[in-house]
Amino acid sequence: MKPTSQNSPLLIFGPGALGLYFAARLHQAGYPVVLGHKLSKVPESREVSVLVRGKGQTETLTLPIYAPSELLHQFGSFSLVIVTVKARHLQTVSTFLQRLQACFFLFPQNGAGFERSLKPALSGQFVRLVVTFGVTRTKPWQVEYRGDGEIWMEEKFLEPAAILQKAGFQVRLVEDIQPWVMRKFLVNLVINPLTTIFGVPNGDLTRVDPDLTLGRAILREGLEVLAAEGWHFNQEEIESLVISVLQQTAQNRSSMLQDLDRGALTEIDWITGYLLGLAKRQGIEVPYNETVYRIVKGLERKHGHLELF
Ligand code: PAF
Repeated sequence: MKPTSQNSPLLIFGPGALGLYFAARLHQAGYPVVLGHKLSKVPESREVSVLVRGKGQTETLTLPIYAPSELLHQFGSFSLVIVTVKARHLQTVSTFLQRLQACFFLFPQNGAGFERSLKPALSGQFVRLVVTFGVTRTKPWQVEYRGDGEIWMEEKFLEPAAILQKAGFQVRLVEDIQPWVMRKFLVNLVINPLTTIFGVPNGDLTRVDPDLTLGRAILREGLEVLAAEGWHFNQEEIESLVISVLQQTAQNRSSMLQDLDRGALTEIDWITGYLLGLAKRQGIEVPYNETVYRIVKGLERKHGHLELF
């Protein structure tokens, strides 16, 4: 297979931890990668030097980077766009995304509740990714791989799946991504707010919350609400998934904790906040989730919240 279907570049929009990691892997696999970021963050040289650490290796690579208007005017189309801005920024960038020409738009965000508004408006296919590996941005243009995991996506998207596989990602193909989005949602519902509140890497969560007592209570509420919405998952299956993600990504600071570390707003509204909305609609009390939501909101206020991505 050639590097890209039409040899047009691949755009990674949003150079946070996940964006830089995707960009680095794809670039190393020989794909023409372009980064996109907001104008105020794009250097005059229109290129950045990215340092990637992981699996015992450190590499530095130089990548082109452009602002949204430049991407629209200087590039005809992209074979693939990976949108790696946080869920909370999707609304802001949606007009730009709608104007981009691309075959596939890949969305690896945590959380739920943003698909419906974006999907019909894009020029290419909307591809939801579920990512279970851990990456940490150690400095603005530095990223560290901190935990194995997979990318889950629908089997009908063979072309983007092949590109990701060629770049070394473990891709698990599933018939319907939605149940996997909800499974990952439950994993993030437990891990992200608790690691943020305790300020610990994923691997330390079972030390500060022995037997995952809080984690299980949060999960129980989540399962009850999702069941009322028609999503039935086995508690044991999701508990084992949470534990396996905690073990595999033990060195990683969850993305929510990383957001807080750099004074940014977190994704709490797309994770716990989304659950609270469903719980309200179903008339179900979720005191544990309500409490962690309020604490994370309080931490955001305490740490200041700049609009960074
Ligand atoms: O949000 C995150 O940090 C990630 O989804 C995960 C898999 C929990 C690893 O830290």
